Amino acid sequence: MFALLEEFKLAAKISITSSQPSSADALVLGWFQEESEGKSKESTPVYLGKKSKDIDAIASRLKQSKHFSAKKNETDLLRYFPVQDFPNTLLVGLGSLKKVNSEVLRQAGAAVSLAQKKAKLGKISVVGESLLAKVAPADQPYYLQAFCEGYLMAGHEYKDLKKADKTSFEMQGMEIAGVKPGAEVNTQASILASAVNFARALGDRPGNFLTPAEFAKILEKMAKDQGLKCKVLGRSELQKEKMGLFIGVAQGSVEEPKLIILEHRGGKKTDKPIALVGKGVTFDTGGISLKPSAAMEDMKYDMMGAAVVAGIMHAIGALNLPLNVVGLIGATENMPGGRAQKPGDVARSMSGKSVEIINTDAEGRLVLADVIEYTQKYFQPQAMLDFATLTGAVVHALGSVTSGIMGTSPDLIGRMKDSAVHTGERVWELPLYEEYEEDLRSAVADIKNSGSREAGSSKGGIFIKFFVDSKIPWVHCDIAGSAYHRKDVNYHPAKYGAGVLIRLMAHLLQNWKPLPQAHS
Ligand code: BES
Ligand code: MN
Ligand code: ZN
Repeated sequence: MFALLEEFKLAAKISITSSQPSSADALVLGWFQEESEGKSKESTPVYLGKKSKDIDAIASRLKQSKHFSAKKNETDLLRYFPVQDFPNTLLVGLGSLKKVNSEVLRQAGAAVSLAQKKAKLGKISVVGESLLAKVAPADQPYYLQAFCEGYLMAGHEYKDLKKADKTSFEMQGMEIAGVKPGAEVNTQASILASAVNFARALGDRPGNFLTPAEFAKILEKMAKDQGLKCKVLGRSELQKEKMGLFIGVAQGSVEEPKLIILEHRGGKKTDKPIALVGKGVTFDTGGISLKPSAAMEDMKYDMMGAAVVAGIMHAIGALNLPLNVVGLIGATENMPGGRAQKPGDVARSMSGKSVEIINTDAEGRLVLADVIEYTQKYFQPQAMLDFATLTGAVVHALGSVTSGIMGTSPDLIGRMKDSAVHTGERVWELPLYEEYEEDLRSAVADIKNSGSREAGSSKGGIFIKFFVDSKIPWVHCDIAGSAYHRKDVNYHPAKYGAGVLIRLMAHLLQNWKPLPQAHS
């Protein structure tokens, strides 16, 4: 009845030109706040592009009306206020001159996009120098890319299951005029934003439309389009591999679990791959340890770790990076069916280690443990990262504004922190102290899947670490707080998936160098 999720195409297009603004429905001007000297906290909007009579007229009106103060992400549409013969003028605030950085530009791009959509302006033309006047020429491509990313990521909606609204307005896009950086910046931003929006739409798709089998079908098509290899294993193959933890989670559901393997072979044949592992729980009811019903519908997003892996693979396929990268996704439902595993059951992992299932709601770590073992056995990765909406505890600890990371390689963690700064995505390191291991000891098996509530996110990491080959540099990313329903930045939609860590990982992989071995 409903089509397969279409390859995500960006509706709005960007063009970047060194010529003067051409015709558009509105001219866009960036304004900064300049704090006045002395005691008064007052600040006046300042324009740093080329001055003209029109600009002077706007400046003096802003002074009188105090309606627009150029605060970060503030916009004001001056309808029928012609500047250089454009019918409308859109002002965008860039905040304090002293605080401008690439993230400010990313959010400004989003603010412009949202204002354009709201005012139904088909095409806009941005005066590039009004954004970049204070940016050193060498940094301009980086700032401009951020502006484009924000523009393309903002306003995401998931409409596949709504009646088509034929009257709905479609934005044509934006021109950025009078600046040097061009096609390269635009291509990068579009590749990244498409990958992010692809991941978001996967998450937004409800559980009944994104079963593990449907997930596999969508990724098979994506792989074809992006030039990746894709292989899918079903229940009998997982049984052959003795993936008892993964199968254990799936056994309460009538939907067949799928292990989805995406491969990008851009490096030398002999280069070991970098492995990305994703938790793809397409719906998490908690199983027999059933979750309360409040907001349980959000558990359709329990596959966002897998969506992030799919998004990264989508991007590196398009960028054709000279690296070997594999993405492995463990996709299953966690349901309380008649065959579901029960608290106290013991399951055997692919690695041979036995696990006592204390809480069937701690299912993500079980899926990851077996997919990690499979990854190590068949790919011997040079580095491994996993992505998962793993614990409610990370939401309590960090909120939604950042992702929790932890692992065995200070070097890889350090690189993630650097890429975080560069891309405006945030990560925060949590510890994996040995002392936490005690709490996961079991009286009847090698380990149990859940302990006390204290340090819940680190305990999740410790469980996974138990299965990680100590020679492989590894980082676990807990995105339970940051993966969806973000209200803190304007380029993430408040009611949909966010698609975090895709831009960060693209940056990290674009600058990849071999790592020293892990510390255990
Ligand atoms: N999918 C949940 C974690 C989660 C919580 C994601 C909130 C997004 C928002 C995970 O499977 C889970 O239920 N974890 C348990 C683990 C516990 C039983 C050790 C949790 O956090 O309560
Ligand atoms: Mn759970
Ligand atoms: Zn879960």
